[in-house]
Amino acid sequence: MPALDNKVAIVTGASRGIGKAIASVFAREAAAVIICGRKQETLNEVARDLQSLPGRIHPIACHVGRPADIQHLIGTANQQFGHIDILVNNAGTNIAQEPVLQVDESKFDKMVEINLKSAFRLIQAVAPGMCARGSGSIINIASISGLKPQYHGMLYSMTKAALIMMTKSYAQELGPAGVRVNAIAPGLVQTALSQYYWKDPAKLAQILERQPIRHLGQPEEIAETALLLATGRASYITGQVLVIDGGRLSPIDLL
Ligand SMILES: NC(=O)c1ccc[n+]([C@@H]2O[C@H](COP(=O)([O-])OP(=O)(O)OC[C@H]3O[C@@H](n4cnc5c(N)ncnc54)[C@H](OP(=O)(O)O)[C@@H]3O)[C@@H](O)[C@H]2O)c1
Repeated sequence: MPALDNKVAIVTGASRGIGKAIASVFAREAAAVIICGRKQETLNEVARDLQSLPGRIHPIACHVGRPADIQHLIGTANQQFGHIDILVNNAGTNIAQEPVLQVDESKFDKMVEINLKSAFRLIQAVAPGMCARGSGSIINIASISGLKPQYHGMLYSMTKAALIMMTKSYAQELGPAGVRVNAIAPGLVQTALSQYYWKDPAKLAQILERQPIRHLGQPEEIAETALLLATGRASYITGQVLVIDGGRLSPIDLL
């Protein structure tokens, strides 16, 4: 039987990259997957791309920084399916790759809104239903930059670090109600967001030289981890941060 038969999942930021790969793997395992991003047309294209998979894809536009959009997303999902089993907070951005002294307050607020507060708002909206049903899996896509500062990326690192602590806090309080909450901390993965690090072959070679697993991470490698956390196979895992980074946090150090 497919691993997510009869399950309903929401994946934010699923118009491309890691979110699209998670939606695809979940649909391969027969889940009904509600995907969100900011543009309905892009989401419709993703749904068309994935239509041959066993699970149905339901595209709903939602800017995760807008409470009204989140309300509409959750309201529509509940109306259509009656419940939500899995929430993946994947939507994220990085609008401030710059020295700390150039960071301004508007960027600070925007990064917190999109990378952090969105997850809080979605969990607050979805978790009560999960608790009432006595089961659910929430997966927050953090980053190794939330464990180790990214150079010129203070706001990104800071929001991901806070997302990790948010994950652990929810896990403690929702665990007794049967809801597991975990985070995935990807290393470098080939998507639009991270192209600065992999587009230039010389720069990429430099990064991979110190990484025990020598290939550039692919969105599907994160998606398979999300699948594990979404299923009952992870029934004893909560409050954890699974680092999926090819070993980058433990670099090869030829002393
Ligand atoms: N790629 C990496 O190396 C890497 C490493 C560590 C962690 N991550 C994390 O993985 C997650 C996915 O990133 P990615 O690499 O797949 O990036 P990506 O290819 O740029 O995709 C980002 C996704 O987030 C959506 N999004 C952005 N702002 C949004 C908003 N305000 N409302 C709704 N959706 C929004 C985008 O959709 P629209 O533009 O269509 O709205 C898109 O679907 C992020 O949380 C990122 O921080 C990535």
